[in-house]
Amino acid sequence: MLHLRDISYHPTASALPILKQISFDLGPKQLGLIVGPSGSGKSTLLEILAGLATPTSGKLFWREQSLLPEALQQLGGLVFQFPERHFCGHTVFEELRLGHPPELSSDRVQEALAAVGLDHLSLQASPQQLSGGQQRRLALAVQLIRQPYLLLLDEPTAGLDWSMRQQLVSLLAELKKEWSLLIVSHDAEDLVDIADHCWTINHGQLSSVQPASLRHRQPQPAA
Ligand SMILES: Nc1ncnc2c1ncn2[C@@H]1O[C@H](COP(=O)(O)OP(=O)(O)O)[C@@H](O)[C@H]1O
Ligand SMILES: [Mg+2]
Repeated sequence: MLHLRDISYHPTASALPILKQISFDLGPKQLGLIVGPSGSGKSTLLEILAGLATPTSGKLFWREQSLLPEALQQLGGLVFQFPERHFCGHTVFEELRLGHPPELSSDRVQEALAAVGLDHLSLQASPQQLSGGQQRRLALAVQLIRQPYLLLLDEPTAGLDWSMRQQLVSLLAELKKEWSLLIVSHDAEDLVDIADHCWTINHGQLSSVQPASLRHRQPQPAA
């Protein structure tokens, strides 16, 4: 169970706070969805949850334990927006093994691929040759292999066509059976049906909302 209590983020370079007293809870095997327009602070919030940025004030807890950024780096697996742009392995196998000791078992590699429905893929395939949907799955597998407790996804459906989006949403619904997921997106449409909790974020301020109020809404204007 993840708890955020009054998390604010106001780097000196920014005139206004980017995140304002954000509090929420996310339980095990739950999918939380945060929806907000461009520039509202979504990616910054994920960076804090992944331990890549330190909040100016507020506290994060996992179960009852207060967490520092180093612990968050272990706990969370962040899939960046357009993760395929950051692939650096020449093969699927290399991409999955990067940053792991040589002893990493091939069972774990296969398990991670199976979890994202890519176990039929050749380990020697180039990540660049995969379809857009397969690349997103591979990026998820890269995080799963680290065995995080919490998957953090930044705009996971952005830039995918309709059928690839539907496939990815089904996969996320499957992953929810084992992991906690927190997804941020400017567009609720695809994800609202699989979310257990929804929030909106505007100018760094989070509000809890009923999923129904996010359905069939006009896309939010870019800030
Ligand atoms: N380190 C930083 N210093 C100053 N401003 C930042 C920093 N990081 C992000 N911002 C600003 O914070 C706001 C929120 O950015 P971001 O989290 O990327 O929003 P979103 O992901 O919702 O589009 C933007 O106005 C962005 O320019
Ligand atoms: Mg963003």
